Amino acid sequence: MQKLVKNCISGLKGEITVPADKSISHRAIILSSLAKGKSVIKNFSDGQDPHSTLKIFKALGIDIEENGSEVTVKSDSELYKSETPLDCGNSGTTMRLLSGVLAGQNFNSILTGDESLSKRPMKRIIEPLTLMGAKIESTDGKAPLLIHSAKLNPISYKSKLASAQVKSCILLAGLGIDGVTSVTEPCLSRNHTELMLKSMGANIKTDGTTVYIEKSELSPVNIEICADISSAAYFIVAALIIPNSKIILKNVGLNLTRTGIIDVIKQMGGNIEILDEREICGETVGDILVGYSENLKGCEISGEIIPRLIDEIPVISVLATQTQGQTVIKDAQDLRNKESDRISAMVTELKKLGADIEETPNGMIINGKTKLSGGVEVETYHDHRLAMSLYVAGMVCEREILINEFEWVNISFPTFEKLVESVIS
Ligand code: S3P
Repeated sequence: MQKLVKNCISGLKGEITVPADKSISHRAIILSSLAKGKSVIKNFSDGQDPHSTLKIFKALGIDIEENGSEVTVKSDSELYKSETPLDCGNSGTTMRLLSGVLAGQNFNSILTGDESLSKRPMKRIIEPLTLMGAKIESTDGKAPLLIHSAKLNPISYKSKLASAQVKSCILLAGLGIDGVTSVTEPCLSRNHTELMLKSMGANIKTDGTTVYIEKSELSPVNIEICADISSAAYFIVAALIIPNSKIILKNVGLNLTRTGIIDVIKQMGGNIEILDEREICGETVGDILVGYSENLKGCEISGEIIPRLIDEIPVISVLATQTQGQTVIKDAQDLRNKESDRISAMVTELKKLGADIEETPNGMIINGKTKLSGGVEVETYHDHRLAMSLYVAGMVCEREILINEFEWVNISFPTFEKLVESVIS
């Protein structure tokens, strides 16, 4: 589907709630399926990725019922062999977390993915799981994965990557085996798995960047999932760069492992404020007030902040085209392993729009402030975050742009355009 995006002159105004957090939605399905009893998940994400996880746990024998955005999971904490391959679709989180769950089961499983997922690196989870005793066949470290039944043993794993998917995979494998399993990461990645496991009664402890887990029985959860800061990011950036904008984003997840974008905006001098910060189901939540900011300044984004804003870098690169001076993004080489090579893809597409942007091996350098000219067609690379970031860029282009294959937005945010239209005054 092609999407025409026009310059937005009137500004964004109003109060909106973006869809539920994708990361937390995956974990809610996985952990409630592993718990004994009935869990109720309210405000489950409507994105395709969390639905890939949901369908897989149904195929693994869990009784899951959907009623609008409310999902009820009834489980006796046992999984059963699926006679058909488990399709993870476009979702790296599904494939990597699920591998940790399935590696120690007494049945074999096959995990498949779409074209993009089948190109993404799985060695990062195959390696630690193999050290634990797992038997996994792959095609040179890529999907499809054939996970053979195996008896696992605990390990202390030092990960080279700050990756919540790798960390969570190992923790989920460790949850089912005797002894202490630990994972240490170079700096902290998102910790939703740890928080949810703890709230469900798991024997889990965090010390700095190391997490320890022991075999645990999980109690069911009743959880209401907060809005996804990664989806809010498109509206935050749009409001910052479109004159006359002022919006409130309600009930957004503000877990410190996810709020790197807010720190960057504050450093750039952006007009952003958190209102009514509170805790819901173990996660920090608040409302975000954000408005047009004329004098944003470029900055360096590198080091420990990278995992705290990894999914927001495409839209931050759009923001950087509208800030004064230089923005340098470093240490983000893993962006090349996402749904697309997000460094090369964003640089190529923003250049087409007229941005002064350059690719580096581990990031990009953007010089602003540039009047984006637009008047061209851009590509999404089958990547939802590219689709939405380019949409935001289109809103400040002088001439309209045409985004090809915009339907990839459905991976995380099917109602994106409807919500944009609701805040255009
Ligand atoms: C996610 C972790 C991150 C992130 C992805 C979701 C998760 O990936 O980019 O969109 O839910 O655990 P990595 O762990 O590969 O950095």
